[in-house]
Amino acid sequence: MSPVVSVEDLTKNYGSVTALAGVGFTVEEGEVLAILGPNGAGKTTAVEILEGYRRADGGAISVLGHDPSSGGREFRDRIGIVLQETGIEVVLTVREAIDIYARSYSRRLPTDELINLVGLDGKADARIKTLSGGQKRRLDLALGLAGDPELLFLDEPTTGFDPSARRKSWAMIEGLTKLGKTILLTTHYLDEAQNLADRIIVLADGSIVAEGTADTLGEGRASSTISFTVEGAGEPPRLDGGPVMTGRTVTYRSASVTADLLALTSWATQHGVELDGLEVTRPSLEDVYLDIVGEAGYGGRAS
Ligand SMILES: Nc1ncnc2c1ncn2[C@@H]1O[C@H](COP(=O)(O)OP(=O)(O)O)[C@@H](O)[C@H]1O
Ligand SMILES: [Mg+2]
Repeated sequence: MSPVVSVEDLTKNYGSVTALAGVGFTVEEGEVLAILGPNGAGKTTAVEILEGYRRADGGAISVLGHDPSSGGREFRDRIGIVLQETGIEVVLTVREAIDIYARSYSRRLPTDELINLVGLDGKADARIKTLSGGQKRRLDLALGLAGDPELLFLDEPTTGFDPSARRKSWAMIEGLTKLGKTILLTTHYLDEAQNLADRIIVLADGSIVAEGTADTLGEGRASSTISFTVEGAGEPPRLDGGPVMTGRTVTYRSASVTADLLALTSWATQHGVELDGLEVTRPSLEDVYLDIVGEAGYGGRAS
């Protein structure tokens, strides 16, 4: 089965700004792929090219077997789009907006079903300008789903949401994956990618700087730490990542925990020292992410 989305060597410049510098990835059927990256990384540019909203400067692109830049009605019928910013008419009611929008699709979900799906039941006849930010974003999602798409693009679906609205949106998006939708979402929230995505691509400065699942993204990346306390046992051994002494606490950064532990326990045994409170801390996904985008020149490290 060929991938739903397949991109090779995608490039896009805006004048002298390189928004995409040769990006390649695939999205398989039923998969949720997150493009994670800081502002300006090129996320919106990438999804807008895949939606057929923008033309690439170069690269091979296939979305549902189409070249999106020339995809006609049959292509547009099969994709759903939730833009980062929508220019929707604010004097319309929720129901009116969905009705109008849904007309452009040959196959469509009933308006009431869409309203229910995104949890706007009480707001069907409310004017859009009276909705909260989170409610507007849910309406955007309803519009994206109006044509019952196979492939849904979500550009920063929860940016600006409060924590409880984000949780609700996540639950909604998870519900869509159970319906078998393929989803390509962009986000600059690590926890969003971690919660929703089967696979994560980290984009920084127009290039993919890491790719994996929430579990594998860190492999060979940000280092673990090893720490323990010692009581007047002389200088602990020098390893690549330390020691750093803070009072009686000894800390090492470690890229190879097993080998470093061997060196430390050998030293301790030879000197008759107990490694009190020995602890190995794996980097959190956040550490990994900061490490990755920091390396790409964003300097996002907190410490
Ligand atoms: N229409 C445009 N004209 C000029 N530069 C743009 C335009 N759209 C985006 N850019 C620039 O391209 C880069 C990538 O932007 P964008 O794709 O919006 O990133 P993201 O969605 O990850 O924040 C940024 O440097 C941005 O300023
Ligand atoms: Mg964007």
